[in-house]
Amino acid sequence: MEGLYWNEHQIIPTLQQIRERVSPYAEKGEVAAYIPELSKSSPRDLGVSVTFLNGATYSVGDSAKRFTLQSISKLFSLLIALMDRGPDEVFAVVGKEPTGDPFNSIVKLETMTPHKPLNPMINAGAIAVSSLIKGRDVQERLDKVLDLLKQMSGNHTLGVNQHVYKSERATADRNRALAYFMKDSGIIEGDVEEVLDLYFLHCSIEATTEDVSAIAVVLANNGIHPQTKQQLVPPEYARICKSFMVTCGMYNASGAFAIDAGIPAKSGVGGGILASVPNKMGIGVYGPALNDKGNSLAGVLFLEELSKEWNLSIF
Ligand code: DON
Repeated sequence: MEGLYWNEHQIIPTLQQIRERVSPYAEKGEVAAYIPELSKSSPRDLGVSVTFLNGATYSVGDSAKRFTLQSISKLFSLLIALMDRGPDEVFAVVGKEPTGDPFNSIVKLETMTPHKPLNPMINAGAIAVSSLIKGRDVQERLDKVLDLLKQMSGNHTLGVNQHVYKSERATADRNRALAYFMKDSGIIEGDVEEVLDLYFLHCSIEATTEDVSAIAVVLANNGIHPQTKQQLVPPEYARICKSFMVTCGMYNASGAFAIDAGIPAKSGVGGGILASVPNKMGIGVYGPALNDKGNSLAGVLFLEELSKEWNLSIF
């Protein structure tokens, strides 16, 4: 049966009802604390926005709160690297396979030969991908990621949360270890600290769920902005992103999420989830209390329930 979202008057009540049902579960999660600045988020916040192909956006809850994209930004550094270098060069330094390990795991980097990170959604893979972005300096490379997000969201005020950026930069020993290991193995070339800086900066780009759903609908629409009709991302690269979202977007919970929600999605430890329902809609969710896999606890439950309610699974 086709989903019920065609009934416009039902959209907000449905989103509200699901929000009420799942938000108490946020209590069972915890906000990320390994980036100290993130521990200041309010664990009970829950915001959701849905943007349809006609550009109409519906929001409930804390949809105006800004949060840092964190790992969601890995999709957009990947897109810029693909546009700068093409898939052959990108997939020479990063693989296409899920890991079954946590997002910051170091173990397979050494045990797999060649020492290539398994995919661009884990930290090691995203750091390797960031090293491929062309530009005179870190600012120019960051601006390419930011400009793409501004065009996709239509929000030209998007920027970096300097507090979160500095907080991550000061505490990122694990990511430094990954990056220096990759430099030693010949995966990363150039100045490792510059590569890390670009990675921390793009992870610290701030947005609301309204921005995220507007960005997600462009991926859902094969790279074409649904209103301006501009092709912002080549369709082939939008397809690569959505494939990674299904196989690796929720880390070592991607299999369960594919079964329970069936929507290409990418999470971040800031509490955001970007979800793209192919040829239908973009969804942005924000709930900073995380589950043990580092995904928004209430956010995952919200998407699972919405998927059932509107019949959104792609499988
Ligand atoms: O590198 C980190 O640890 C963070 N900047 C991003 C990690 C992240 O968002 C994992 N997502 N669930």
